[in-house]
Amino acid sequence: MDQLGKTFIKLIGLMVGLLALITSLVGVIGLVIYLSYAGVQLPEFGTGDEQILAAAVVPEPKSKALMDPVGMWTAPDWSTVDAEANAADIKYGRELIANTAAYLGPNGSVRKISNGLNCQNCHLNAGTAPLGNNYGAVLATYPKVRARSGKSEDIPKRINDCFERSLNGQGLERNSKEMIAMVAYMEWLGQGVPKGEKPKGAGIYALPLLDRAADPVRGKTVYDSQCQSCHQADGQGIAKADGSGYIYPPLWGPNSYNQGAGLYRLSRFAGYVKANMPLGATYENPLMSDEDAWDVAAYVNSLERPSKDLTGDWPDISKKPMDHPFGPYSDPFSEQQHKYGPFKPIQEAKASTQ
Ligand code: HEC
Ligand code: HEC
Repeated sequence: MDQLGKTFIKLIGLMVGLLALITSLVGVIGLVIYLSYAGVQLPEFGTGDEQILAAAVVPEPKSKALMDPVGMWTAPDWSTVDAEANAADIKYGRELIANTAAYLGPNGSVRKISNGLNCQNCHLNAGTAPLGNNYGAVLATYPKVRARSGKSEDIPKRINDCFERSLNGQGLERNSKEMIAMVAYMEWLGQGVPKGEKPKGAGIYALPLLDRAADPVRGKTVYDSQCQSCHQADGQGIAKADGSGYIYPPLWGPNSYNQGAGLYRLSRFAGYVKANMPLGATYENPLMSDEDAWDVAAYVNSLERPSKDLTGDWPDISKKPMDHPFGPYSDPFSEQQHKYGPFKPIQEAKASTQ
């Protein structure tokens, strides 16, 4: 009996000990998770199993706003447009930006000069979305000399650049009703911006560079899980039944932007996507990690799309941006590295020669 009692007490002691061990383990793991959420840098573990354990329990930090909203450019109030002498032009201009294909696409009612995309597919909310490739800087910064053409470009020339590249088509005549309307709309949008200034939140987000090359293979897995539900497995999107454009625009193939377009540069694509895709993301609530944005850019831009004669571009080759994927270059880096990165060494080399 006495013997049995001793064994019983020993057993209880063992169980209490085990319970204490489990409690403290849970506590430590909880603390690790809490600290990582709170953004505290955790000390490096050894190279043993603890590191694997830590990697398994520490979730990726939550995405945060890409820019402080204070001072961000916003479009003038649309209801004030009627006070303008050229209100009809401004309204038609906005309509053309939002529904380009219906007027100027393959079945366009005015002319058939472009591939079926709308300007708004890339310049979101008719070019007014913060970090959604908006037109906030256009009036203030054009005309300007652009290194791509080596010439001074005014607003009509810049609009036609997007027709010929992003919409893989032909430009509009400068004195056409449509060109006058689009310019009027952009001028109205930029009315409050001081000359020469690029307002905060204009254009595309500058996504931090990775230390490695962007990876099209990993990018395909990102595409499959986060993009293909809308843009489709074959990347061709979903066209509207009446042929006047897309519900979900194509990302590659014959109806997409061509190789001379801005989005064919990885930094433009990745920065656009980081702040705006999957649909519903905004700069205040981005939905993708930086790595996913770079890798999906690499995947999409590794696939077939229309080419364009680019021999007239970048007359001064030393001005080619780090991610212009066609040589010759003034630096020793390959076309492959200029397309996918790593971009930091290219940037450093550029900085040291300037
Ligand atoms: C496939 C995507 C795409 C489409 C469609 C598109 N653009 Fe663009 N556009 C871009 C990109 C990318 C840039 C360069 C942005 C940058 O580098 O900051 C750009 C730049 C511009 C700029 C210069 C903005 C600035 O601040 O310098 C204007 C103006 C412009 N586009 C007008 C248009 C018009 C008008 C249409 C429709 C006819 C159009 N775009 C269609 C992708 C597109
Ligand atoms: C829920 C549907 C949806 C998902 C998911 C989605 N997109 Fe989009 N995407 C759209 C729509 C709609 C537009 C056009 C936006 C507009 O016109 O206002 C668009 C436009 C684009 C454009 C510019 C237009 C073009 O055709 O080149 C790119 C680039 C793009 N998406 C990339 C992506 C990537 C990469 C992903 C995955 C990370 C993604 N999208 C996920 C719906 C979606």
